[in-house]
Amino acid sequence: HRTAAVIPAAGRGVRLGPGAPKALRALGGTPMLIHAVRAMARSRAVSLVVVVAPPAEAAEVRLLLGEHALPERTELLVVPGGETRQESVRAGLDALPADITSVLIHDAARPLVPVDTVDSVIEAVRDGAPAVVPALPLADTVKEVEPGKPGEAEPVLGTPERARLRAVQTPQGFDLATLLRAHAAIAVDGEGATDDAGMVERLGVTVVVIPGHEEAFKVTRPLDLVLAEAVLARRRA
Ligand code: C5P
Repeated sequence: HRTAAVIPAAGRGVRLGPGAPKALRALGGTPMLIHAVRAMARSRAVSLVVVVAPPAEAAEVRLLLGEHALPERTELLVVPGGETRQESVRAGLDALPADITSVLIHDAARPLVPVDTVDSVIEAVRDGAPAVVPALPLADTVKEVEPGKPGEAEPVLGTPERARLRAVQTPQGFDLATLLRAHAAIAVDGEGATDDAGMVERLGVTVVVIPGHEEAFKVTRPLDLVLAEAVLARRRA
């Protein structure tokens, strides 16, 4: 078995506010992407990390990765991304060598995922699950609405039972052949899939959820940066 990690990092991160691509913004003085690459490389089961970079910043990303220390055993590749997250993931998969049998897809926007979570995902895939997602129960009750204009009142259509819902994180782990089959089956349209496991579900293949971790949260909005800085400061203390 050889496992690779693909890190889609080609998004602009507009919800975080104006500035550099999200993955290149600093956390504790180090770009978010470097944290994410290290989080994957920390797992002894990951021998290759493929970074999918914003096409205009691919050279800058290569330089950046060269400047930051990674474990000796970790092989690195940088490839240019696409218009949607799904296309970016596809570009990463296309770059994998033939001896890779399983793959993790990990958002650059989840820089602080602990290695135990990464290892648990890989273990579940190696134990035979074709698709594995780490996830947590929800703190908030969720409503389904009829979407209206931003800022306007929206009618509620229903309230799914909270105990049955999970908020999914990354890295999501896959048998590579299964994920490639999912990508081949689904044409890229509009925004593309927001979640890799969702594409596998549409094949009719069973996806399993394992416990995620609070520190695997996604840095999306400005408040998330405050939280991420606090988590890093606590780790360094
Ligand atoms: O936008 P969102 O936070 O869902 O993006 C999740 C991840 O997908 C981020 O790491 C982002 O950089 C990546 N992405 C990408 N290519 C795109 C859009 C998003 O690699 N075209």
